[in-house]
Amino acid sequence: MNAVFDPQALSSFLEEGKKEIEAAGSSQELEAVRSKYFGSQGLFSLASKSIGALQKGERKEAGEFFGKCKKEFDSAFLKRKERVEEEEEKAKLEGEKVDMTLPFTRFPMGSLHPVTLASRQIESFFTSLGWSLGEGPEVEHAWYNFDALNFPPDHPARQMQDTFYMLPEESRLVLRTQTSSTQVREMLSKPLPLYAASIGRVFRSDPLDAFHSPVFHQCEGLAVDRGLSVSDLKGVLGSLASRLFKEAEIRLRPSYFPFTEPSFEMDMLLGGKGGKWVELAGAGMVHPNVLKSAGIDPEKYTGFAFGVGIERVAMLKYGIKDMHDLVEGDERFSRQFAMGE
Ligand code: PHE
Repeated sequence: MNAVFDPQALSSFLEEGKKEIEAAGSSQELEAVRSKYFGSQGLFSLASKSIGALQKGERKEAGEFFGKCKKEFDSAFLKRKERVEEEEEKAKLEGEKVDMTLPFTRFPMGSLHPVTLASRQIESFFTSLGWSLGEGPEVEHAWYNFDALNFPPDHPARQMQDTFYMLPEESRLVLRTQTSSTQVREMLSKPLPLYAASIGRVFRSDPLDAFHSPVFHQCEGLAVDRGLSVSDLKGVLGSLASRLFKEAEIRLRPSYFPFTEPSFEMDMLLGGKGGKWVELAGAGMVHPNVLKSAGIDPEKYTGFAFGVGIERVAMLKYGIKDMHDLVEGDERFSRQFAMGE
């Protein structure tokens, strides 16, 4: 545009500009109109340069004319801007609107079964001691479940644990009656010294009642090293009990298992002084014959072992009164334990 001051042209720019302002549907469009007319390269800005070329007397008038145009433009602009912003805000809120009456779509947090919770706590106790975790098969050869554990053939001790035998009989396979079946496996597969725990399912042909289940879980602890004694066993059992039940006091009572000598039942004083003694584990020093089954010289090495019933731990820990609750798998029962501690 050449620098000629032309009020008529400017007036029609102004009218056009005001129409464009009215037509602008967004802040962005409005801003574009402003820059078209009053931006640094805008029509009015360029035209204002012509003022300099005017006669002195005409400059004032021209200046005032520009001022009037700008004022009119600005007021139309601001008015429209307010409206546009209001509409934009409204549209934004509309977009963020949440329908509180819609059905719930998130899945509620799951919960762990108390047997899983107790198993995990026991596992973490052993790994924190630096013990390794192992496992063995549930369908086990009678040799690992009985023979290698110093149960003589036809010894009444085999009937102590009501065994499920697999067919055919010659297979000599059983559903393992105890996680002690992992002892000799561990000794044969891992180097000495050995500190290992295993947790798993065991099976006995007991009917389901408030205290027994034909399928339950045990944790087996086994240590084989030079110079281990009953005091080491007692130390580990004591710290396991205090990890699981906080301030538990323990005692060992004489007992009998074919695979340990001497053998004990371990009791724990639940609830501290004034509480009651509850039986928690079978335990003992690994019988020399068991070490020999795994090719370990009992003159050089001694070991201790213990077996803890996981259901028992869970029942004592969470005050569960009836085994049925643990095995029935009613999700409402597990839900109260959430994710544990
Ligand atoms: N296996 C034994 C049981 O099921 C427990 C036990 C384990 C005892 C290890 C001594 C040593 O009763």
